[in-house]
Amino acid sequence: MKIICYLGTGGVGKTSVAAATALAVARTGKRSMVMTTDPSLRLRTALGLTDNITEQRVPLDDPKAGELWASLLNVRATLDEAVRLYAKNSTSDRILNHSIYATIAGSLAGMQELMAVERIDQLIQQGFDHIVIDTAPSRHALEILDKPELFANISGSRRVQLVGRTYQLAAGLGLTAIGRGAVDIVGRVESILGVHLVRQILDFYSLFYPIAEGYSKRAQKTVAMLRDPAVTEFRVVTTPQKALRDAAFFTDALNKRKFRIGAFCVNRAWLHPYPDTVPRGLAGEVLDWYKTVSDAHRKEIWKLKQGYAGQAREVQVFSELDQDVDGVRALEKLADQMHLQAPAGLA
Ligand SMILES: Nc1ncnc2c1ncn2[C@@H]1O[C@H](COP(=O)(O)OP(=O)(O)O)[C@@H](O)[C@H]1O
Ligand SMILES: [Mg+2]
Repeated sequence: MKIICYLGTGGVGKTSVAAATALAVARTGKRSMVMTTDPSLRLRTALGLTDNITEQRVPLDDPKAGELWASLLNVRATLDEAVRLYAKNSTSDRILNHSIYATIAGSLAGMQELMAVERIDQLIQQGFDHIVIDTAPSRHALEILDKPELFANISGSRRVQLVGRTYQLAAGLGLTAIGRGAVDIVGRVESILGVHLVRQILDFYSLFYPIAEGYSKRAQKTVAMLRDPAVTEFRVVTTPQKALRDAAFFTDALNKRKFRIGAFCVNRAWLHPYPDTVPRGLAGEVLDWYKTVSDAHRKEIWKLKQGYAGQAREVQVFSELDQDVDGVRALEKLADQMHLQAPAGLA
């Protein structure tokens, strides 16, 4: 089981490099999945997909290749699936048809990261053993690590458990049967929200609680996998201009969370060979300008390697393509530049 999680600021090529990585893995004969948590749906363009299917196999020409799959995280579908998988038979329909479920499922902003972790677990159950994750830009990306742990802690809290569990026991007897501490909370909330809504919420909560509890156990397991360097590698995508700033930010952010960086991927580097003889006129000026930029890129990459050698296993460099990353052909050009012999990640 291998997971590669790409992080980076917006527009540096995370989605492109993530999709190329999944392609590189598929080319070794494996079954790989690239999943994006970015609602911008760039993955669809990067893979050259045209329709709206949120999860699909991407056709590859190479007969020796394994399978390349792409998934655009669908928060609602993931939550529905979790209910179907983990609610007891008798309660899954009650939950899915509950008015409160419609309300929370209709306002799932903020659930992206919680469901990303749930989806990783579902993909593993489906037998994908190489998962590449393309995260939403920068700050939010780290929430994939923070939120599930936070949620697991909240739903494990004694107060929350008290209300969830005692209500279930007391549902048939009326609210008065709930323990003292819970009645206090319920009373206070009722005075704000009204009795009807609070009872509906409690009714829903008592049905949903086992799923939330199960979620938090699965999330803990998945987060433990994300924390296990033998399973998961974090790679930071950046560009030559942003390399040092991004390296400082992500090294700090990941170290704080006790995660290590597997690789810095410097994308869009201008590294084409420079001719010995330079023509005169405009062509010469363009080449001179190219050389200036290219030298600056090389210098930044060198500084990154010097400054952050101890922070990541390696620095991978991807050159600027002569085209947009808009389909399998372009992804192949990026995949060709990828190190497949990386000890963790693609092995
Ligand atoms: N190596 C590259 N060469 C040329 N264009 C690239 C390269 N990498 C990315 N791009 C282009 O940069 C833009 C942003 O890429 P994308 O992968 O969506 O970045 P991100 O996911 O970080 O926002 C896209 O238009 C893509 O085609
Ligand atoms: Mg993207």
